[in-house]
Amino acid sequence: MAGLRSLDIGRLSILVVLLIGTVAIITKDQWDWIFSPDEAETQGVSAETLTIDDDEVERLYRISPNNGSSVSYAVEERLAGNDSLAVGVSHVVAGDILLNTSNLSLTEIGQIRVNVEMFDSDSSLRDKRLRHDFLESNHFPFAEFNVTSIDGLDLVFADGETHEISLTGDLTVKETTSQETFSGWVTVTAEAIQAEVSTVILSSAYDVGPINVARLAHTEDEVTLTFSLVADRVEAGSEADADLETDLPEVAIGGGAFAATVQPVLEENCVSCHISGGPGWDTIAFDTAHDAAVIADDIALVTQIGFMPPWLPGGDSPEFEHDWSLTDDEIATISAWVADGGGLDVAPDTKLVARTQAFIPIEPDQVSPPRDGPYTTAADESGEPLRDDEYRCQVHEVEDPEGDGTWLKGHEFVPDQKSIVHHSIIYVAPDAARPEIAQISARDELPGWTCFGLSNLNTPGVYSIGGWAPGQAPTRYPDGYGLFIPSGYMIVNQTHFHHEHEALPDNSAIVLDEATAEQTDGITGIAGSSYLTPAEVPCTPEEEAIAAEREATIDDYVNLCVRENVIDEIREKYDNFATFIPGFMIQNCGGTIDDYNDLDGSIGHCSCDMRARNPGTIYTVLGHMHEFGDSYRMTLNPDTPEEKVLLDIPNWDFEWQLAYDLVEDIEITTDDTVRFECWWDRARLHLPEPRYITWNEGTVDEMCFSAISVLPEPDEPGVFSLVG
Ligand code: HEC
Repeated sequence: MAGLRSLDIGRLSILVVLLIGTVAIITKDQWDWIFSPDEAETQGVSAETLTIDDDEVERLYRISPNNGSSVSYAVEERLAGNDSLAVGVSHVVAGDILLNTSNLSLTEIGQIRVNVEMFDSDSSLRDKRLRHDFLESNHFPFAEFNVTSIDGLDLVFADGETHEISLTGDLTVKETTSQETFSGWVTVTAEAIQAEVSTVILSSAYDVGPINVARLAHTEDEVTLTFSLVADRVEAGSEADADLETDLPEVAIGGGAFAATVQPVLEENCVSCHISGGPGWDTIAFDTAHDAAVIADDIALVTQIGFMPPWLPGGDSPEFEHDWSLTDDEIATISAWVADGGGLDVAPDTKLVARTQAFIPIEPDQVSPPRDGPYTTAADESGEPLRDDEYRCQVHEVEDPEGDGTWLKGHEFVPDQKSIVHHSIIYVAPDAARPEIAQISARDELPGWTCFGLSNLNTPGVYSIGGWAPGQAPTRYPDGYGLFIPSGYMIVNQTHFHHEHEALPDNSAIVLDEATAEQTDGITGIAGSSYLTPAEVPCTPEEEAIAAEREATIDDYVNLCVRENVIDEIREKYDNFATFIPGFMIQNCGGTIDDYNDLDGSIGHCSCDMRARNPGTIYTVLGHMHEFGDSYRMTLNPDTPEEKVLLDIPNWDFEWQLAYDLVEDIEITTDDTVRFECWWDRARLHLPEPRYITWNEGTVDEMCFSAISVLPEPDEPGVFSLVG
C-alpha cells in the first residue's frame, strides 16, 4: 500500500520555490471551511411583498419555496476529460406578482429571490464546491431578479391562456448586478400563474466562473439560467409565507462492503489530509463513513484519474521517494465498491481514523514570529480588506547568541490565520540587506513591505530556501547535510494572503530545527541552483482576431496580443527591470523569440538546454509554472545515449508543487546538460482580454522555472544559488 507514512520523512516536500499566480475567482480559500459548517447555512428565502390597490382589477400571486417553483442553472462541464451538462436546481424561491386583469401590461412583478445555497445537482461534491468556492453563498446566499419591463403580455386577458413573454431586469448574483432579459411563456388562471423563462448569462460577468479546477473540472463561461415559477393566488394583505426552513435532499446510502476493503484504503491514504485541521478537510471532510459514502462516485472519479491523492509525476518520471499515489489494486477496490452502490456495512457515524500521520511537525529549537509584529492588511471603513490578493514580505530574525552562525537541519512555516494564508516562500537575506529592508519597510505604515513573486530585495545574496502551501510537509535535510545561516543573516518570508471579508492580524511564524553539536561535526551544506528558462505563449489566431477587432472599435483599446504592449504593461505594473526579464531568458538559452513562441492549438511550448551548475548527487528536482501550466519535463543529457528523464509531469497542477526526491542516486557534474521544457495551455484559464503571455510574476504571466538541489561530496563547499 502506498502509505502516507512515507511523508513523515519530509524530504520530499522541500518546496524549493513556490511562486505566484492566482486568479481570485478560482483561488480556493483552502482553509475557509474549517471555520464554516459543511452544509448550507441559510435555508429559507424571503422577498418583498406587493399589495393590492384596486380589488376590481388586481390579483396578487405569490411564489413561495417548495410550491413547485424552481430556479436552475445548466452549464457545459468537462469533468475528468468527459463533457457533460451540469444542472443544479434550487426550489427555495420567493416573489410576488400583481396581475392587472383590465390591462395586463400594468402587471407588476416584484423582486424574485432565490436561495443559491440550496442549489442541488447530481454531485454533492459539485454543490459544495459551487457553494463555497464560486458563489461564496455563505456570504451571498441569495440571487435576485428585479424586473424593470415585461414584453409580450396580450392586452386582452383570458384565464388559462399562454403568452410568450420576455422579462428584462436587473440580475444580482454575488456582488454584481447586471441587466438580463429572460424569455419564455406564462399561463395565468384564477388560482395560479405558471411561467418558465430562461436566459444565458456569462458566469465571468458575475465573478462566479468559469470554474477551473486543474486536472479535474472546467466549465464553459455561458450558463443557462431558468426560472420555472408557480405563483399561487393569495388574498390581499396576505403575509409572506416565505421564510420556510428547507433541507437539502438527503443522499440515500445503501449497503456495501466498506469496512474490510475501502475503509483501510481511505484511512491509509486519504484521511490524514481530510480530517479536521488537515489540508483537504476544508474541501471534503472524511470524518465519518457517511462522509465518504455520500460522495462515493466522486471518490471513484478522483482516484481513477489520479487527481487524489495529489501526486503529479507520471509518464517517464523516474521513481521518487514517498510516492503516495494509490496502487492499481487500491483504485480497483474503490471502483468495485462504487460499482456495487458505494454503500456501508458499518454505522454511518463510524469514525474514520488516519492510520498514518501525514506530516510530522518540526520540534522547534527556535520559533521566530514576524520581527515587526503581526500583519493586518489595510481595510476600508467597514473593515473590508482593500485587496483580495496580497503578497507581503516580513523579517524573521534568527537568534544566534554565540555569533558563529546557525546550521539548520530543517525549518517549517507555521500559518497563523489559516483562512487567509495561501502560501509562503522563505528566503535567507544577508546582514547587508538591512538598510534596504529599512528603506522599503518605510513605504507604508504596516509591518514589512509589499513584495511580489520574489523578495523584491536587490541586495545580492538573497536566496529562497523553501516554501509552504497547505498540505506540504516541513523541510528536513538528510543525514550529514544542512543549511548554514551566517551570523547576522535573517529570514525573509513572503506570504501570499487571500483576504476574504475581514482584515485579520496574522502572526505566522518560522520554526527552525538547529543542528546539534554532534550533527554539526562534519556537516556539509546542501547545494542547489534554479534554472530560469523562457515562457512565450502568443495569442491564438482567434484571439488575435478578437483583439484586433476591439482595437479597431474601442477607443484607447490596448491590444495585448502584441508582445510589446504586454511588456509596456509590465513596466507600469512593476518596474523597468521587470521588462528585461523575458528577453534575458531568451538570451540565456540562445536564439530569438521565434525559436520559442510556437503555438499548437492552444498549447505553447518552450525548451531550453543549460549546463548543470552544482556537482553532486541529485537530491531533489522541481518544476514551476503558473496556472496556464499544462505539462513539464526535465531531462538530463538529452539526445545522448545517457539521456535520463529527471521529472515528467504530464498534467500540471499549480496547487501541488513539490520538490521530488529521486530514489536512484544520480550523479551530476558541471559538464552535464539539462533540458527544461514547459508546456502551457491557454485554455486552462479564462482571459477576458486576450493577451500574449510571457515571463513575469503576475497571475496572467507565466514562468518556466526549475530547480535542482544536490548533495555535494562531503566537505565540498556547497553553493546555494536559488534565486531570491
Ligand atoms: C496530501 C493531502 C491529501 C491527500 C493525501 C488526499 N487529499 Fe484529497 N484533497 C486535498 C486537498 C488540499 C484538496 C483540495 C485541493 C483542490 O481541490 O485542489 C483535496 C480535494 C479532494 C476532493 C475534492 C475534489 C474537488 O476539487 O472537488 C476529493 C473528492 C478528495 N480530495 C478525495 C481524496 C481521496 C479519496 C483521497 C485518498 C485516496 C485523498 N483525497 C487524499 C488533500 C489531500
